[in-house]
Amino acid sequence: MRYANITGWGKAMPPAILTNDDLATFLDTDDQWITSRTGMKERRISHVQVSELARVACERALAAAGKTALDVELIVFGSTTFDELCPNTASNVQRMIGATNAACMDVNTACTSGMYSLTVATSMIRSGVISSALIIGAEVISVLQDWSNRDVAVLFGDGAAALYLEAEDKESGVIAESLGCYGESREILSIDGYGVKYLDPKRSLCDVSWNFLGQEIFKKAVAGMGHACEKTMEKSGKTADDISWVIPHQANLRIINTLVKRMHVDSEKVYINIHRYGNMSAATALVALIEAVEEDLVKPGQLILMPAFGGGLTWSAHMIRWGERTKVINESDAELPSCDKTALEMVQDLIKRKAEI
Ligand code: ACO
Repeated sequence: MRYANITGWGKAMPPAILTNDDLATFLDTDDQWITSRTGMKERRISHVQVSELARVACERALAAAGKTALDVELIVFGSTTFDELCPNTASNVQRMIGATNAACMDVNTACTSGMYSLTVATSMIRSGVISSALIIGAEVISVLQDWSNRDVAVLFGDGAAALYLEAEDKESGVIAESLGCYGESREILSIDGYGVKYLDPKRSLCDVSWNFLGQEIFKKAVAGMGHACEKTMEKSGKTADDISWVIPHQANLRIINTLVKRMHVDSEKVYINIHRYGNMSAATALVALIEAVEEDLVKPGQLILMPAFGGGLTWSAHMIRWGERTKVINESDAELPSCDKTALEMVQDLIKRKAEI
């Protein structure tokens, strides 16, 4: 059997931090509400475009795997906030890192984009089409945010993660997954003004508003991820007892707690970093996976279950067998450019731009 082992991992977190108190300076909200309803304390605001975040995450993933850009045969870029749609953003990453042997594609399934990208690359490696790939989950959602809407503005942040995958004979990487979509409910999470159908010379990218039925999304998120987990466990022949870690998409701590209760998983097996970053959409689950590895929690050969949920309404769950190495081979010297503004200043600039439309 051929598998797609995860041998490199890297993240790129924008340095500017937006706290709950920062949000309360321009929204009718407070730290107590946001913390108790979501588990979030702070999130990052990016001063660079999403391809730049992805570049740094990819350089770090390659160094971690002990590979060069020329080893990469495919780049799959999962996101909702691509710098540009044509040409695709994966091709920009290819150029930035010099991965001239790589095919390039973008994948958009909203918050699950990083996980769907993992399926695409894993499947292509397992079928023999390619032998290596970089997959990216990255998002600069701050630019698309409706900063006047407290229902959504408090929930999201920016960030990027990349994994390097390579063909391997031993069972490793994704061993089973389940993907799906509640298309009939797609309107309950949508960004009005974002996409070709809205093209209007009088509108700018900032001129968007979110349709976001929080409570309905909450219920669908628990149902979708729960269903995906059950199917994935069944497909892999594993039970909750076999799983060492559940590393879920982090959209709301209460969603995670409800899901975990439904799955009868010990809460100590659940990795949480939502307080640090909020929901980074496509980057969320992959950043969480990388941080669990960086914190030395993941041990060689362990099974990790990764449920995710996003606009569409897309859902997924991946069962991953971690490989033999939990330490990076090389450290990368790739860094983001320095940032001379605070997160709050950047958000205020975005609010000002929107007011000027
Ligand atoms: N600060 C203070 N009060 C607020 C805020 C805020 N930021 N947001 C809403 N409220 C108010 C509401 O107006 C409401 O007031 P009312 O009672 O006077 O009408 C009250 O708080 C309660 O609102 P609810 O909607 O009942 O709050 P709830 O406990 O359901 O939490 C939340 C809302 C956090 C949005 C929750 O429903 C949720 O997490 N939903 C899922 C989010 C999610 O999954 N997002 C990821 C989507 S994936 C993707 O692809 C983008």
